Parts: sequence; C-alpha cells; structure tokens
Amino acid sequence: QPDPRPEEETVRYEIEDGVAWVYFNRPDKRNCMSPKLNRQMKRVLDELEFRDDVQVLVLTGEGSAWSAGMDLLEYFRAAEQEGIHKTRQHQREAYGWWERLRWYEKATVGMINGWCFGGAYGPLFACDLAFCSDDAQFGLSEINWAILPGGGASKVAAELMGFRDAMYHAMMGENLTGKQAAEKGLVNESLPADHLRARVQEVADVLKKKDSHALRATKWAVRRVREMTYDNAEEYLIRAQEALNDFGGWETRREATKQFLDEKTFKPGLGAFDK
Ligand code: ACO
Repeated sequence: QPDPRPEEETVRYEIEDGVAWVYFNRPDKRNCMSPKLNRQMKRVLDELEFRDDVQVLVLTGEGSAWSAGMDLLEYFRAAEQEGIHKTRQHQREAYGWWERLRWYEKATVGMINGWCFGGAYGPLFACDLAFCSDDAQFGLSEINWAILPGGGASKVAAELMGFRDAMYHAMMGENLTGKQAAEKGLVNESLPADHLRARVQEVADVLKKKDSHALRATKWAVRRVREMTYDNAEEYLIRAQEALNDFGGWETRREATKQFLDEKTFKPGLGAFDK
C-alpha cells in the first residue's frame, strides 16, 4: 500500500543550540525515499539553510534505519506504470535535494543510525562528515534485485572506496557493518549505538566555533579540488580565498592573527580563535 501520511510528516526536524537535527521520518518503511519524502526534504533543506539559529545540519533517521534507499513501490513501480515522464520527475526530485545537500551553505553531518542502502548513498556522500553506529549496515543491494547502483550510488562507492572494495561491494550485494564501513572510508567513524549522538554533538560543537564563511569555503574547496588538476586547484583556492575576503575575511583574519601574535590568547594549532 502507498504510504497515506501527508508529505509534511515524511521529514521532521528540531533545532537545538545551533544544530538542526533532521530526520528521515518513515520508520515503519525503514525511511525509504518516496517522492513525497524527497519533495519534503528539499523544502526542509531550503528552510534551514539560511537561518541564523542553524550552524550545523545533522541528517539522521527515525527508528531502526537511516534510509533503506529508494522506495521500490512509490519511487519505482508507481512511476513505471505512469511512464518515463514520471520516472524523470522522481529522479529530479531525489537528485535535486542530494545535490543541494552536497553544496549546502552550512556544515552537514550524516548520523547513520541503522540501515543504509542503495539510493541512500546519495545523501550519505552529500553530507560533509558521517558517523555511524557499529550496528548500522551499508549495502549496494541493487545487484540483488537486478539493477545497477544508479542515482550516483556507483559513483559514491568509487569515490569513497578503493577500486577493489568498490567493485566487491557493488557486485556482491553483501552488507558492511558500521566498523567495516569506517575502515573502507564510507564514514569517518563507527561508534557503539549509545555513543553515536554524543559524538556527533561533540563534532557539531567544534564546527559551531569555526568562522562560518571559512568553513563553507573549506568544505566546497575540498569537494571541488577532487576533480581538478593540481594547477587548477591552486588557482581555484586563490580565487576562493579572495572571495572569502568579501565576507569579512580580512577582518576575521586580522582579529585571529591579533589574538595569536599580540594577545597570545589562542594558538591556531590547538583550536579556533574567539569569534
Ligand atoms: N522500498 C519500499 N518499501 C520498503 C523499502 C524500500 N526500499 N524498505 C523497506 N520497505 C518497507 C517494507 O516493504 C515493509 O513494508 P510493510 O510493513 O508495508 O510490509 C516495511 O518497510 C518494513 O520493512 P521490513 O522488510 O519488514 O523490515 P526489516 O527490518 O525486516 O528489514 C530491510 C529491513 C533489510 C532494510 C528490508 O526492509 C529491505 O531489504 N529493504 C530494502 C532495502 C533495499 O534494497 N533498498 C533498495 C536499495 S537500491 C536503490 O535504492 C535504488
């Protein structure tokens, strides 16, 4: 049966002390991504992106799943019955919010609390950092139901893992545990489930202390330079730093330098300056 709940309920969020905790909210469907959820997630991301009370966005899942990938009923089968135009619409809606998240203005952290399959690798890669629980499971299950890992999932595996690991992962359709996912580079760290939120909170608290413009420029730079030659990257980074100056970069840098060199109240090697 298609999920009867209204679009607005497929995603929920709470804002706490500078952090927006955003939840895939279809726990009884293992948070698989339906067109409704994809539309709502785009709306929520838009709504949170420029709020002054949000510095870091955490994407997590309600219940036992982070996200069980695309909704096989509502995203695939229903669209196939209607025709290619529907398939394309559904793809645009899903890929649209993942792209939006990849280039989000604020720092983003994936908190992978459980199942993470197929299409969910799109938002996984879109998050700047990712932490999972040891009992999470990651899988490119596409091959198990006779499709290829699309929607960027093959690209994500090839970007984040070594070649042999990506091949094995995509071809075998076996799941990785949280710890294995961390070893192979799908996430930064895997933690016992009851430590996960505290660790993500700790990371968010560090990110909150950074200069927000420098943080945005940094995360975009790391994503951009992956695809550039060394020379192009060098040039891009000069331009990006100069653009940062338009956002008050001179003043912040002057202040930070003063705190280090003159006032001796902070050391850049040991933490962020006092904003
Ligand atoms: N699409 C549609 N419905 C789904 C999906 C999905 N991706 N994942 C779970 N559900 C639904 C189930 O059909 C079931 O619905 P029902 O209660 O109406 O029968 C409900 O969610 C609960 O799922 P269960 O299978 O009963 O939950 P369980 O905890 O036993 O298993 C698991 C969880 C392993 C995640 C299982 O649901 C599963 O294999 N899901 C599919 C995972 C997958 O391969 N996703 C597609 C990846 S490929 C891609 O995204 C392109």
